[in-house]
Amino acid sequence: MDRSELKFNGNIFLIGFMGCGKSTVSRALCEKYGMERIEMDEQIEREEGMTIPEIFSEKGEDYFREMETKLLKGVSEREHLAVSCGGGTAMRECNVLEMKKHGKIVLLSAEPATVYERVRNSHNRPLLEGNMNVEYIRSLMEQRRARYEDAADFTVETEHKTAGEIADEIMKYIVKR
Ligand code: S3P
Repeated sequence: MDRSELKFNGNIFLIGFMGCGKSTVSRALCEKYGMERIEMDEQIEREEGMTIPEIFSEKGEDYFREMETKLLKGVSEREHLAVSCGGGTAMRECNVLEMKKHGKIVLLSAEPATVYERVRNSHNRPLLEGNMNVEYIRSLMEQRRARYEDAADFTVETEHKTAGEIADEIMKYIVKR
């Protein structure tokens, strides 16, 4: 399937744990299927003129969560977006309802050890600062699993797949519906 065969004009919301590949897959959806990419964390950083760790430390996590909700409301009326959500976006029921109303929610899953390898050298994730180890990642992932799964229309396992393969898998699922 390529872009020209694709009739889908809706939005795709990529959810899942930090480091599960949401940003990379949203890029592949744009390159392969001409969608427009929204990276929620980046957009919030731009709007605030601060990094995510600065927002957490200076304004607090609740403020950041409000920004996520506001941003989703602002973009979800648009079409053909590949939205890379923050790892906590699907934890709020109102965000899930907003995403469901305006598109398909796709959960990307990865093993804790894989996530650790991807995020271990980054200092852009306040929730992992001081907790950068596989056991902590596994336990936070477990706490969130039910909500992620309940929110998702569809889950893609990402282990041993390229971003392009994952984008194709998502599109195949979506055009079948
Ligand atoms: C968070 C995930 C991060 C970012 C913030 C909080 C979370 O996004 O929104 O640090 O609660 O899981 P990524 O999933 O893009 O790393």
